[in-house]
Amino acid sequence: MPTLSIFGAQWGDEGKGKIIDLLAREADYVVRYQGGANAGHTVVVDGQKFVLRLVPSGILHAGKVNVIGNGVAVDPLALFQELDELAQRGIAVDPSRLRVSAGAHVIFDHHRRIDALSERWRGAGRIGTTGRGIGPCYADKAARTGLRVADLLEPARLRVRLTAALTEKNALIEAVHHEAPFDLAESLTRYGKVAERLAPFVGDTGAEVRAAWKRGKSILFEGAQGAMLDIDHGTYPYVTSSSTGTDGIGTGAGFPATRVERVLGVTKAYCTRVGEGPFPSEDTGKDGETIREVGNEFGSVTGRPRRCGWLDLVALRYALDLNGATGLVLTNLDVLSVFDEIPVCVAYDVPGQRGPLSEYPAHLPDLAPVRPRFERRPGWRSDIGGARRFAELPKAARDYVQWVEERIGIPIELVSVGPEREAVVPRTA
Ligand code: IMP
Repeated sequence: MPTLSIFGAQWGDEGKGKIIDLLAREADYVVRYQGGANAGHTVVVDGQKFVLRLVPSGILHAGKVNVIGNGVAVDPLALFQELDELAQRGIAVDPSRLRVSAGAHVIFDHHRRIDALSERWRGAGRIGTTGRGIGPCYADKAARTGLRVADLLEPARLRVRLTAALTEKNALIEAVHHEAPFDLAESLTRYGKVAERLAPFVGDTGAEVRAAWKRGKSILFEGAQGAMLDIDHGTYPYVTSSSTGTDGIGTGAGFPATRVERVLGVTKAYCTRVGEGPFPSEDTGKDGETIREVGNEFGSVTGRPRRCGWLDLVALRYALDLNGATGLVLTNLDVLSVFDEIPVCVAYDVPGQRGPLSEYPAHLPDLAPVRPRFERRPGWRSDIGGARRFAELPKAARDYVQWVEERIGIPIELVSVGPEREAVVPRTA
């Protein structure tokens, strides 16, 4: 298998976990390079549902090396909880199967607290974060005040750096937010213990992945969140704090992105978003509710109801272009089976402007007032969950896939028709 990048082409929750689990069969390494426990990658194996947050989605296969790269914001407590849950379900993860970068930044208790407190202060401008401390951790990384996994493992360094960081954060928590500070001694003891458990998994993962690639091993890079939540290219400020696409691989995995040969975007056949921010093709009416119910569109990490709407070809083309996608995976096609007609957003109308906009606007203020222009495609109104070959799909469903494919200009390589591992249809003619 060539080196492969799989990224979300919408606002996250596209069903990447299942696709990564599926394609991980052919990979030797599965590498996360950004995000943290804000991600929730759902994989269903033999009727058992697994929600992976920090651990890469290759963990459900034996013999794969799963890597948490330096660009991931690692909450060690969340990681241990996940490892304990996996162990309880019969999946023991030892350091030969999970590697954690010494250069990854650590999420501490104070990051989670500040995440929640900052949201309170933002008022109407709140982002609707997952509350996992992601933004504050990346902010400290950029401010050069963060602690990396390697710092955690050296007691003297941990003491010096955590003391400095916590003194500043406590001042903020007390003076600005009027909340109780964290106890430094307690934090040092707590994270000292964390370091002992984490240590066996830690290494120079960039070097490990590059060396494996030179030995001919196949590498799959697992993106979290989605292109429209990218810190630079998404709907800023309603975004996450990392580079969610293929360009994050260089910085977040220590692997040259120019060596990635195959780039697969993942999109649902409709669209969802959690948290605040613009969503031009959102349906706040009955159809949106139907999508939420049929598609079980509730956050896998936070349980929040997702905002639902129709596929947005303007945003999708932008996401695919931006990431140099060579192919697309279309997920949750089965959810659309309940509709007689399926609207798809093909352009945006801008008030006061003649002619529709078919290119994604560069600035958020230009996006907020746009109105979606929909084209309605015929539905198929039958259960497609059992289809395993493209020819087994009803004609209207095949036409829908082909029609989308023509409008995005790259092949749709796989279509997913249900949550289970095997519920996929290769897109052959
Ligand atoms: P944060 O990443 O927790 O800071 O949240 C920032 C924004 O990204 C919020 O709108 C979240 O709802 C959204 N977000 C973060 N992670 C995910 C995800 O895995 N799926 C969907 N949305 C996410």
